Amino acid sequence: MTINILIVGAGAIGAFYASRLAQVPDVQVSVICRSNYKAVSSNGFSVTSPKYGSYTFTPDRTFANPKEAVAANITWDYILVSTKALPDVSDDSEILNGLMRDGHTAVVLVQNGLGVEDPYVKRFPSATILSAVTITSAAQTSPGVIKHNRWTRISIGPYLPGSTGATGKNEKEEKAINCNKKFVELLKAGGIADAEEYSHAKLQMVRWHKIAINASMNPSAVLSGGSTNNEMATDSELYWHLKGIMDEVLDTAPKVLGTPLPKEFATPEAILKSTQKNTSGSKPSMLLDWEKGSKMELEVILGNPIRIAREHGIEMPRLQTLYALLRKADENREQAKQGKSKL
Ligand SMILES: NC(=O)c1ccc[n+]([C@@H]2O[C@H](COP(=O)([O-])OP(=O)(O)OC[C@H]3O[C@@H](n4cnc5c(N)ncnc54)[C@H](OP(=O)(O)O)[C@@H]3O)[C@@H](O)[C@H]2O)c1
Ligand SMILES: *[C@@H]1O[C@H](CO)[C@@H](O)[C@H](O)[C@H]1NC(C)=O
Ligand SMILES: *[C@@H]1O[C@H](CO)[C@@H](O)[C@H](O)[C@H]1NC(C)=O
Ligand SMILES: *[C@@H]1O[C@H](CO)[C@@H](O)[C@H](O)[C@H]1NC(C)=O
Repeated sequence: MTINILIVGAGAIGAFYASRLAQVPDVQVSVICRSNYKAVSSNGFSVTSPKYGSYTFTPDRTFANPKEAVAANITWDYILVSTKALPDVSDDSEILNGLMRDGHTAVVLVQNGLGVEDPYVKRFPSATILSAVTITSAAQTSPGVIKHNRWTRISIGPYLPGSTGATGKNEKEEKAINCNKKFVELLKAGGIADAEEYSHAKLQMVRWHKIAINASMNPSAVLSGGSTNNEMATDSELYWHLKGIMDEVLDTAPKVLGTPLPKEFATPEAILKSTQKNTSGSKPSMLLDWEKGSKMELEVILGNPIRIAREHGIEMPRLQTLYALLRKADENREQAKQGKSKL
């Protein structure tokens, strides 16, 4: 039987994974486009990759907007969401209205940060939700042109807050676990050898661990006036600043989640050491967004971890400082922009 997958947020990450899933026999992948609609509807996506070579990915259906997708009346097995997570700008769960088949369609969230699942759980309380984190580096260099740079790993777990995990799994949990397993198999069949199946609790731990890197490097790159990760990790004061944040995040995560940090996860020292060795000058995406004048994923990378910790009676003062400063810097910049446009 055909498996129908819809991509919401067909940018760098969404189109890359879509192009791999489309390689699997019996899988049909469709996309909802926005600014790249014209290019994609006429030429599909062209993908270049050091691992998979150069190829064209032509979606089964290319929709100009969510309304067109609803009108197509297709029973989606999976809806993969890979918009940038900007809850302060838009609630993207709204796009899925009219596209979800009760008890059938699963949502796969491929987004960085913490708390990205919340709006989807609220809007579709009975739906199966899979939560995914990727370290893949990719960019859409022009509309419909996807440049995969390196890495492919994606870690996925069923989103089951409050589940005991141990004995007595209920029907909903069993269903989500099986659905998660199937989606990981599809990714592997599409050539993503390091698609990894996780439990709910461990996937949340992966999210916190990724936050340790992103919440330290990204805002600091912006606030220090445009430093690369390597420049920061080799600066004598910034080194301790970065390590302090990583320690704060990795001390907080086990207290919030109630499980210890897995031993195989890289320590702050190891992360900083490898960043010191890498002189290739890569800039974190938050800095790239800031330089472009685009919105940064501030809330899911800084605001939500602080709030989640607070709900557990824990303060994260280092993270809070970065959040407060960067949020205000963003606000001031927005006001300056609007002031200019009024002239
Ligand atoms: N790129 C990476 O290397 C990388 C690595 C690890 C994790 N991630 C994470 O992956 C997620 C996606 O990032 P990305 O780099 O792929 O971002 P991106 O290239 O900007 O892609 C996001 C896409 O979503 C589309 N979109 C947003 N709102 C939409 C709407 N209402 N309707 C239809 N389309 C909509 C955007 O369309 P427009 O072009 O019209 O805005 C864009 O095509 C983020 O959470 C990011 O942190 C990215
Ligand atoms: C949508 O498809 C279902 C079957 O999958 C059908 O029962 C229903 O009538 C269709 N709705 C419209 C508006 O075409
Ligand atoms: C260093 O970073 C560059 C670009 O950011 C990347 O191509 C390379 O794989 C990295 N090297 C290591 C050892 O991680
Ligand atoms: C998170 O950090 C990784 C590694 O530095 C980087 O490749 C990625 O772009 C960052 N993501 C965001 C949203 O800043």
